[in-house]
Amino acid sequence: MRRLAVIGHPVAHSRSPAMHSAALAELGLAGEWSYEAIDIAPDELEERVREMPEQGFVGVNVTVPHKGAALLIADSLSETAREIGAANTLSFVDGEIRADNTDASGILQALPEQPRGRRALVLGAGGAARAVVWALVREGAEVDVWNRTALRSRHLCEELGGTPVEVPDATGYRLIVNSTSVGLGGEDAFVALPLSADSFAPGQTVADLVYGTERSQLLVAAEERGATVVDGIEVLVRQGALSLEIWTGREPPLDVMEKAAREGL
Ligand code: ATR
Repeated sequence: MRRLAVIGHPVAHSRSPAMHSAALAELGLAGEWSYEAIDIAPDELEERVREMPEQGFVGVNVTVPHKGAALLIADSLSETAREIGAANTLSFVDGEIRADNTDASGILQALPEQPRGRRALVLGAGGAARAVVWALVREGAEVDVWNRTALRSRHLCEELGGTPVEVPDATGYRLIVNSTSVGLGGEDAFVALPLSADSFAPGQTVADLVYGTERSQLLVAAEERGATVVDGIEVLVRQGALSLEIWTGREPPLDVMEKAAREGL
């Protein structure tokens, strides 16, 4: 059996096992490949990851809070993972741990239009925001970054590009991406973030990386105001598909993955 997994802490809520298992079945690989969720505490991460190849693991997805630490354990890094400073995909190949980051391409593929030349507002300065900012800056968007803790967004922009903003006028952006964890714990997004329902309008795209319910408070409001919305599952599916392609070399069945990821939400 070739084993795959998502590792995180906590990880029980992850839709990745359902999504990848459905993809492996669709590709006719279910008898040879498996995908599970494994909860690993931060202080055990390195030891547990190093044991994985001998336990039959071929690769893992890495989620909160291990994306930064995963990079340090790896023997080789893709350019994307190195520049973002976080890895969401590890592959165990020829005795080596390889790190990659498919979050950046995942968000770009989930967007309805090329961000080149567009004004974008990214909310957050954690690992998820780093991937989004890196991707949008590289694609030639004009990126502003807001974070609750302004020092973090300033540091992020010094490293990755983009402009830190403390009081954004959200109506002026073609693209708004929530890459904070606001919404996960049931917070009121319009209190925690510099947005209101009036921030949204037709012609705009609003993406929310948080998934947990079918439509977040932000996306419900954005949709009501006629904006195009991209939810966290769409980004999850794209990044997962890119990881699966790295491990198996096969073209992932996106529709099957999306359906499986949404079931049980
Ligand atoms: P991840 O790797 O998933 O991005 P993270 O590094 O813990 O996770 O980042 C969480 C992000 O959500 C941060 O931008 C955090 O803001 P701070 O840097 O100020 O902590 C943001 N965040 C979490 N809870 C928030 C809240 N209640 N209001 C505003 N921002 C919040």
